[in-house]
Amino acid sequence: MDASHLMVTGGAGFIGANLVRWLHRRHPRTRITVVDKLTYAGHRRYLQGLLDTDEVDLVVADIADREAMERLFSRSAFDGVFHLAAESHVDRSIDGPEAFIQTNIRGTFVLLECLRQQSEDCRFLHVSTDEVYGSLGEHGAFCETTAYDPSSPYSASKAASDHLVCAYHRTFGVDAVITNCSNNFGPYQYPEKLIPVVIRTLRDGQQVPVYGDGGHVRDWLFVDDHCLALEQVFRSGQSGRCYNIGADNEWTNLQLVYAICDRVDAILKRPDGYSRDQVTFVADRPGHDRRYAIDAGRIRRELGWRPRVDFEAALDRTVRWYLEYMTRIWGI
Ligand SMILES: NC(=O)c1ccc[n+]([C@@H]2O[C@H](COP(=O)([O-])OP(=O)(O)OC[C@H]3O[C@@H](n4cnc5c(N)ncnc54)[C@H](O)[C@@H]3O)[C@@H](O)[C@H]2O)c1
Repeated sequence: MDASHLMVTGGAGFIGANLVRWLHRRHPRTRITVVDKLTYAGHRRYLQGLLDTDEVDLVVADIADREAMERLFSRSAFDGVFHLAAESHVDRSIDGPEAFIQTNIRGTFVLLECLRQQSEDCRFLHVSTDEVYGSLGEHGAFCETTAYDPSSPYSASKAASDHLVCAYHRTFGVDAVITNCSNNFGPYQYPEKLIPVVIRTLRDGQQVPVYGDGGHVRDWLFVDDHCLALEQVFRSGQSGRCYNIGADNEWTNLQLVYAICDRVDAILKRPDGYSRDQVTFVADRPGHDRRYAIDAGRIRRELGWRPRVDFEAALDRTVRWYLEYMTRIWGI
């Protein structure tokens, strides 16, 4: 990658922090400016060790603040923006959708306006989700031509931002690429999402709540494989094009929870089956999509991407990471 200065919005969040670590490891001379509001989901601690270097800096700012963003773009010539800043939790979007509209839609709009006004070449990589496509039945997979059909305020706000990015590419010629990725897992994910919540409750010997009958299916991808895909799309993706990212790795929520139970028991030396007995079924989330599955044929064929990490090994590493760092990072 020949970029000399990149902006990563949301770079102090889960995927963003993993991406900044990934890019810094692979391109140690590239300057990276993280732009992050540091909501509950982002923290300087996720970038520990990087913020002391000359290459990585953090600007605490709101992407929906137009003046602040214009100041940033006028001060520095960025070769590219990896746009990850978002409100990202579906349950929170049901309880209070407004922040999702403000950050995910207006924030993306403000960044696109900044790009439209600048004369230097700057590629915009918009990081989005497979949730924009809605829900699948038992068969089939989302491809890039699947019609958008979002179910939650979160996915609707991401869908709106995807459309804005396409429109700014077609109307104003902004150099933009979009990725729609399946569920990620790995270190630094705020412990409100499924995998860290399950690990925490099991560690504490509490009951693990599973929505509905636990038969909802998700396609899980280790965060480093997502980072590799983002790097490849940024470098070689065709402007104006969307790329689905997924690992062909479908699990029902219950299968995944049981897999975590067995690992926690092994690591904490508990009797076999101890944690599975903690699983309890709770009322389903409203509008809960039944199944997501990704057809990642385009990124595999056109850019040669494929997931590199073995799922079982990555899940094991992730469980161990949370057991070791949860208290240090979140004080829980
Ligand atoms: N987590 C997943 O499984 C997944 C899958 C596909 C796509 N995505 C997308 O990837 C991106 C990152 O997801 P994540 O899981 O890392 O989210 P996250 O919630 O862990 O992190 C989001 C980051 O954005 C920052 N932020 C929020 N509002 C902001 C604002 N107004 N201005 C500046 N910064 C702000 C937060 O402080 C945080 O650091 C999101 O756009 C999400 O839609 C996530």
